[in-house]
Amino acid sequence: MALLTKLRSLRGLKPAPEPELPDVARSVAIIMDGNGRWARRRRLPVAAGHREGTRALRRTVEAAIDLGVESLCVYAFSTENWSRPEEEISDLMEIFVETIERELPDLARQGVRVRFIGRRDRATDALRAKMDELEAETAANARLALWIAFDYGGRAEIVGAARRLVEEGVPAGEVDEEALRSRLYAPEMAEPDLLIRTSGEQRISNFLLWQLAYTELIFCDTLWPDFGERDLREALSQYAGRRRRFGGR
Ligand code: IPE
Ligand code: IPE
Ligand code: MG
Repeated sequence: MALLTKLRSLRGLKPAPEPELPDVARSVAIIMDGNGRWARRRRLPVAAGHREGTRALRRTVEAAIDLGVESLCVYAFSTENWSRPEEEISDLMEIFVETIERELPDLARQGVRVRFIGRRDRATDALRAKMDELEAETAANARLALWIAFDYGGRAEIVGAARRLVEEGVPAGEVDEEALRSRLYAPEMAEPDLLIRTSGEQRISNFLLWQLAYTELIFCDTLWPDFGERDLREALSQYAGRRRRFGGR
């Protein structure tokens, strides 16, 4: 192929176009699933799985920076996760608070800008304060945009956008994709090039319903607490071999 291209250009002919392969995934989303199974396999309480999951997130953020990812959006807690046992939920809220406290200095130093998408009104006061602090303390960073989906549901997000259109009195004739998109939780968030779901489950579970329209999907069997640089690298290399069409030829 390379030789043919060279010959053509020697003869002054235009080189044949290469098939369009995406190079690197600049924007990655992850459904961090499998904490419960990781714990169960070790006969540990489910909270131990969630705690270990926070370590995996730390590793993944560092790997994402090294691999040139610019935007990473992770699913931490869904609108449906409130239906879990009370004890698991209260442990999780505590783990979120502890994790923010523990990770804030390094995230700030590493140039990570953290923002949350989803509802904040149902979080504990302690957690809401930590979320605000994490966003404020990293607001000037630009190396990696880390979006954390907490109390997030794709349907709730779209319903919220529709409600805002009505509240703002936008006439029906002006409701188009851009009008809706600009009223999502974070219109400035890059649409994911690639979505990874860990733990072998193959579904979306109400994550980023609007934003995933043309995202490449990769499902891997690794349980989230075991996820790390090798898995991310593997997913990115699978992505690099895919051809995106966006409905075109
Ligand atoms: C994902 O792990 C974390 C949250 C949903 C908060 P799970 O807790 O869903 O783990 P499994 O699916 O039960 O293994
Ligand atoms: C999706 O995982 C939510 C998060 C990873 C935060 P779930 O474990 O809640 O999803 P289902 O119930 O298996 O679809
Ligand atoms: Mg799960």
